Amino acid sequence: MRSELAAGSGETMEKRERPRVVLGVSGGIAAYKACELLRRFTESGHDVRVVPTASALHFVGAATWSALSGHPASTEVWETVHEVPHVRIGQAADLVVVAPATADMLAKAAHGLADDLLTNTLLTARCPVVFAPAMHTEMWENAATQENVATLRRRGALVIDPAVGRLTGADTGKGRFPDPAEIFDLCRQVLARGARGLPQDLAGRHVVVSAGGTREPLDPVRYLGNRSSGRQGYALARTAAARGARVTLVAGNTELPDPAGVDVVRVGTARQLREAMLKAAADADAVVMAAAVADFRPAVYAPGKIKKQEGQEPEPVALVRNPDILAELSADRARPGQLVVGFAAETDDVLANGRAKLARKGCDLLVVNEVGEHKTFGSAENEAVILATDGTETPVPYGPKEALADTVWDLVVPRLAQPRG
Ligand code: CTP
Repeated sequence: MRSELAAGSGETMEKRERPRVVLGVSGGIAAYKACELLRRFTESGHDVRVVPTASALHFVGAATWSALSGHPASTEVWETVHEVPHVRIGQAADLVVVAPATADMLAKAAHGLADDLLTNTLLTARCPVVFAPAMHTEMWENAATQENVATLRRRGALVIDPAVGRLTGADTGKGRFPDPAEIFDLCRQVLARGARGLPQDLAGRHVVVSAGGTREPLDPVRYLGNRSSGRQGYALARTAAARGARVTLVAGNTELPDPAGVDVVRVGTARQLREAMLKAAADADAVVMAAAVADFRPAVYAPGKIKKQEGQEPEPVALVRNPDILAELSADRARPGQLVVGFAAETDDVLANGRAKLARKGCDLLVVNEVGEHKTFGSAENEAVILATDGTETPVPYGPKEALADTVWDLVVPRLAQPRG
């Protein structure tokens, strides 16, 4: 099928080997942001067919889609009928992403309607399908929309939750189109899994990940912090979302953008992180503590800035212990069968220290990083050994934090309790 279509539209061999993406665009103001998503796909070597709905063209015209994708962009099944586009575009795709997906489009897709080229394409696609909804909060929260989303998810589509933020006009709330760069990142991972025939093995699961470093205030302007960038935790959240999970990311101090479809809870101190983790873990299937939690905090918080005193040395800062969140989550599992994963950074006797820490913390898996040269906080790469309570040791070679994250989920999935009925 694929080669027939390619031959029919006169494409070169080189083009045929590029991953084929269908970008469906439905009629919402966020259609203009889909132009950036399209650019990210084309600039990274994907062959993209844009299939807008007629209403989408009120926001961004066919000329823009056509110029950016290098293909004609039509909404109707009645154009180029000899190429049978209503069947072929969906059949030939490696990924279909509908961005933005309006409430109307979700309803049509959930009910299998097929009154234009995009809805026909959704019915013929055999590849992974991602919907990135964007709409006003009321429309998103409406029971009809929520039921349509649940139906699509049950059938295997990846429907990412919209972001929270500024909507059209002055309103704010849930319904915002996520950052196109983050949608692209999610799609890239979904495509890669699809190409390897890997399933959305976290679909229907809720996972909670902590990331970044905590900050313990000394006074309104100073704090005790650490150098964690949050990248490993964010990579865990992104990869879990691409595998179909509902993800809560409890983020300490980081500069990173919110991953698409992930519910991000921002915290400052270790105690705030503990509270957010306990709350989110209440209905989680798996909990991963990737955050760098401060073990100590200043014993006293000065409500006003601590001033220098002429001719006097400063008072020493007394510290007290913070709660050990990982140990607590492991000891008091919020649900039977909940899986708990910890991280540990070690410089010497990595395996021996790691094994002792696994036992001490009481978690099921411990990702042990060897800290040293080239393996610093903030780097995009990591190297680790993952220790399990059953005695297995899984070495993960030096590489992207995303690869380590995927290996963590590979080890988590078979250990998860049966899904709740
Ligand atoms: N952690 C936690 N609460 C703390 C400190 C750490 O939940 N107060 C978690 C981290 O998120 C990580 C794991 O515990 O998943 C191990 O952190 P690490 O700092 O290596 O362990 P410590 O218990 O602090 O041991 P060490 O004496 O080696 O510092």
